[in-house]
Amino acid sequence: MNVSEAIISRRSVRSYKEKQIPEECLHKVIESARMAPSARNKQDWKFVIVQDEEKKDELHEAANGQKFVKEAPTVVVGVATKPEDEMKSGIPTSIVDVTIAMDHMTLKATEEGLGTCWVGAFDQEEVKNILNIPDGCKVVALLPIGYPEEGLEVLYKDRKNPEDITCRDTYY
Ligand SMILES: Cc1cc2nc3c(=O)[nH]c(=O)nc-3n(C[C@H](O)[C@H](O)[C@H](O)COP(=O)(O)O)c2cc1C
Repeated sequence: MNVSEAIISRRSVRSYKEKQIPEECLHKVIESARMAPSARNKQDWKFVIVQDEEKKDELHEAANGQKFVKEAPTVVVGVATKPEDEMKSGIPTSIVDVTIAMDHMTLKATEEGLGTCWVGAFDQEEVKNILNIPDGCKVVALLPIGYPEEGLEVLYKDRKNPEDITCRDTYY
């Protein structure tokens, strides 16, 4: 699968098989994050790999009770370790970096035949408590990963038109 195919076939998967993902696949997914760009190559990130059933159960409760968070065999929790750092633009560096790295993960997982779903609806403090994440850090997203119950065939993607999301030379 090439990058374009991964981009097209990635979609949010909210129903997973029980089967754990092979360690080799997990390694490739993490490696795709490790190779991601980061501002000044600071790599101010940490990825907590959660496979413990009790912890996943607690995470799902902290994530508005979204069931697929505990049903996925693995959940990667992306943590910005310097969330207060900002680029000259005023944009938070570490949070952007973690986001890019996690998007790499979604594409690599797709190539491996795995499904993922970004989870941004969660209680920041609860997730930090569950995983012992230090106060100075910020959880950016939860990423359940597993074999999709219904395969990864390409479905219709509801997206805005190119002309509605682009403009030329000036903003309009
Ligand atoms: C930052 C972010 C947070 C998201 N949070 C959730 C979430 O908490 N629960 C959920 O079911 N989907 C969540 N999604 C998935 C989006 O709903 C999904 O990406 C969008 O509807 C487009 O569908 P697709 O991923 O299948 O292309 C999130 C996506 C992003 C990028």
